[in-house]
Amino acid sequence: MKDEGNNIYSVFDEILPKEEKEKMLNQKAKVLWLTGLSGSGKTAIAKVLEKKLHQQGYLTQLLDGDNIRAAINSNLGFSEQDRTENIRRIAEVSKLFLNCGVITINCFVSPTEQIRSEAKVIVGQENFIEIFVNTSLEVCEVRDTKGLYAKARTGEVKNFTGISAPFESPENPNIVVETENQTVEDSANYVLAHVLPFIKA
Ligand code: ADX
Repeated sequence: MKDEGNNIYSVFDEILPKEEKEKMLNQKAKVLWLTGLSGSGKTAIAKVLEKKLHQQGYLTQLLDGDNIRAAINSNLGFSEQDRTENIRRIAEVSKLFLNCGVITINCFVSPTEQIRSEAKVIVGQENFIEIFVNTSLEVCEVRDTKGLYAKARTGEVKNFTGISAPFESPENPNIVVETENQTVEDSANYVLAHVLPFIKA
């Protein structure tokens, strides 16, 4: 046991290692991190992907922005500071799943290189699979599945990613998936094929 100061005695090094749990589950635990604009298709792809992985015997947990913000992160908004805290907590939660051998499928706008790199540091670069859902702002705005782009244009919704807050495309993602000229099923199949090598035991 180490004294970390402030009377915190962490026992990370005494916990059954993740490898034992991965062996039990016959998989390699990874954090599959989908980044992209609101309405780009992250959650739609993730839902289909999760079903397909489940059918192949993988244990997964889907984490999504709206769900997390309705629960554990219900005290956070969309300032840069709150988004950073949102992603920090999500990365920490993902790490708990990771240490349990579980594959998480994370659907978060995670709009900047800085925010994503902080998540990578928490999760560990080697376990972080960055998947860019590459749908243009124009298409997301036409889709406007939640009606938020219209509200962002009138100013009713402030700090909206792509309109009044920044989105930086990832510089070096592991996987880039298109959604504009293919179905959700096609996009999910594409991601599936590209993640399998990372998660196969
Ligand atoms: S993140 O920027 O902190 O990563 P997160 O993925 O958790 O965002 O949440 C994004 C979701 O919150 C969007 O899909 C949308 O439904 C909703 N939302 C509400 N207000 C905003 C806003 N100002 N900017 C972006 N998304 C918003």
